[in-house]
Amino acid sequence: MSDFVRIVEVGPRDGLQNEKTIIATADKIELIDRLSRTGLRSIEATSFVSPKWIPQLADAAEVFGAIDRKPGISYPVLVPNEKGYERAREVGAQEVAVFTAASEAFNQKNINASIDESIERFRPVLERARTDGVKVRGYVSTVLGCPYQGNVPVADVVRVAARLHALGCYEISLGDTIGVGTPHQARAMLKAVANEVPMPALAVHFHDTYGQALANILACLEEGVAVVDAAVSGTGGCPYAKGASGNVASEDVVYLLHGLGVETGIDLDRLSETGLWLSALLGRDTGSKVARALSAE
Ligand code: HMG
Ligand code: MG
Repeated sequence: MSDFVRIVEVGPRDGLQNEKTIIATADKIELIDRLSRTGLRSIEATSFVSPKWIPQLADAAEVFGAIDRKPGISYPVLVPNEKGYERAREVGAQEVAVFTAASEAFNQKNINASIDESIERFRPVLERARTDGVKVRGYVSTVLGCPYQGNVPVADVVRVAARLHALGCYEISLGDTIGVGTPHQARAMLKAVANEVPMPALAVHFHDTYGQALANILACLEEGVAVVDAAVSGTGGCPYAKGASGNVASEDVVYLLHGLGVETGIDLDRLSETGLWLSALLGRDTGSKVARALSAE
């Protein structure tokens, strides 16, 4: 197991994209600024997708332009195409993330494109990013199951991950979008991908719909993965993934890692306070068991 794990905090993007009520721009900015003071090194800030598809993040440019970007922290943003890349660059994004899926059916619902079409859209993004010195992360969704297609063959996950890596994505995040996977399955999927894409270039992204996320993460840590996506307070989900619930809570992942003797550089108390602040803002209980336990102490 790696002795340092980088958490990619996806709450401001994956978390807020799935909220029914639209959060005020100022609150999004405050969330990111609070997260910047917890020791996190990667905070996915927002997404430059079509505002018709994700109205919750229509204020991406305002948010990104106003956050206090700290040196040493990366603030990736989601972009689905060249237009998104241009919007992100106009406000100074230095890292972007492209996203596709291992399932054709999911891709059609989420980005109105086949896997091949999505890769064609990414090509100019990666070319421009190379020239501009911008880092590009790549997501593969539905790696352990699809809400429309059902079973997703591991070979499809491997093929799509390897294509994104070959295209120039420095890191590939493997997403269990609907949170249906279990540990042996997760480990086998990661192992298969790691035969084609080096482990240091892989990340895991678990939604906790069936309560398996921490178990799946542990299995993947044992396999050597050293980057884990998570969302403070356990918010999140994709509006185009029927049945998907929140991401694994960042607080819970940090507690797990510290308990295993793995460093993260993150101050758990501060992270937990930020999660409680967010859940109060959203008017519901935190999705983090660790935050609940710490606040009861
Ligand atoms: P489309 O309708 O097929 O695209 O959408 P289009 O190219 O025909 O454009 C339609 C309109 O959108 C046009 O405007 C474009 O200008 C505009 P109009 O002429 O009608 O006024 N447009 C844009 N506007 C702003 N920014 C852009 C942009 N692109 C086009 N970048 C598209 C295709 C990909 C744009 C759309 O399907 C989309 O935005 N989808 C995003 C869906 C999304 O964000 N889903 C959630 C993120 S993925 C996820 O959560 C999974 C993940 O967490 C990992 C996991 O859990 O598995 C990452
Ligand atoms: Mg997600």
